[in-house]
Amino acid sequence: MRIETERLIITEFTADMAQDVHENSLDEDNRKFVPDEVFETAEDAREALEFLISQYGRFTGPQAYAVLTKAGAENIGYVQMVPLDGGAWEIGYHIAKKHTGSGYATEAVRAFLPRMAKEIGTDEVLGICLSVNAASRRVLLKCGFVPGFEGTGDYQGRKREVFRSVWKMPGTGKGRMNTETIRIRPVTPGDYDRIYALWDSTEQSRRAMKPVDDSREGIERYLKRNPATCFLAYADDGSGKEGKTAGVILTGHDGRRGMIHHLCVHPDYRRRGIARMLVGKAEEALREEGITKVFGLVFKDNDAANAFWEEQGYSLRTNLNYRNKSLNENVPKGE
Ligand SMILES: CC(C)(COP(=O)(O)OP(=O)(O)OC[C@H]1O[C@@H](n2cnc3c(N)ncnc32)[C@H](O)[C@@H]1OP(=O)(O)O)[C@@H](O)C(=O)NCCC(=O)NCCS
Repeated sequence: MRIETERLIITEFTADMAQDVHENSLDEDNRKFVPDEVFETAEDAREALEFLISQYGRFTGPQAYAVLTKAGAENIGYVQMVPLDGGAWEIGYHIAKKHTGSGYATEAVRAFLPRMAKEIGTDEVLGICLSVNAASRRVLLKCGFVPGFEGTGDYQGRKREVFRSVWKMPGTGKGRMNTETIRIRPVTPGDYDRIYALWDSTEQSRRAMKPVDDSREGIERYLKRNPATCFLAYADDGSGKEGKTAGVILTGHDGRRGMIHHLCVHPDYRRRGIARMLVGKAEEALREEGITKVFGLVFKDNDAANAFWEEQGYSLRTNLNYRNKSLNENVPKGE
């Protein structure tokens, strides 16, 4: 594949680019933000190039392309699409320090993204960078990526503050209308009104609500026992004040098993991975408290939720009967 933009040529790597790739990779931003992609010697770069060249057209590995200036045919960086576990693809790019500030990354990504996505056969690409990497985030937003999650997450094998966004091939979107960033923090008793309003506005959550257990006092008691394992997702429009409640999850444990209650994402924010992130945070918090297994109850006819839990790896137990008994006359038994 070869793409020409106004000022750039995006083309396959060749082995004789090893010296340029080595030199381009040494800048301080690369060391700080993508340390895995620093090649200390030209020999290291040559080995990496051999691998990348072997991957062209095999859509099980990274598809990386050199970015050259049209004017001087200077090798100034790369753009790439990298497959992640689970079938998703992530965009990657780097422009050598001395060429930054000229809009080259945006120009290259804008041209590369739809062409490469089409070749791979994907209509969705993730854009992930460290939260502190303001320049990279700006490139993603200028190229049409929509902010998804911002908070603590896995980044090159370490827990870091990350910014995640998603790009959809024009004309194929699932209607992601929102452009705010989503942030996640622990639930506090003061959140009761906003989380209750979310549950109450959602049919599948409303049917699971119990007058005593989900009263203000009931939820306060729950949060007191489980202060570090319940999470709220909210929209951040940059105004400095928390925006709309996007989602919530209550998770607790009895010292042995973890249990998830009342996961709910506002309809305006669905299919953006928010529930997945809330569950991830809850699981991480349970692990930190020494819990080794977690379960949740799902109405059999709640197809969306059952599909969601299946995707999160929550297997269906078929060898158990769920039995319960009321210990309070105000709490009806059975259903
Ligand atoms: C279930 C619910 C929490 C999912 O929230 P969400 O933020 O939209 O879920 P995510 O975006 O994190 O979904 C992750 C994956 O789960 C699966 N999934 C989620 N919703 C789905 C749906 N409606 N149909 C099929 N699969 C679905 C998909 O695989 C999805 O990945 P994809 O969007 O890349 O295809 C949300 O639909 C909801 O709040 N429903 C009402 C309340 C409820 O039923 N709560 C569950 C009680 S047990």
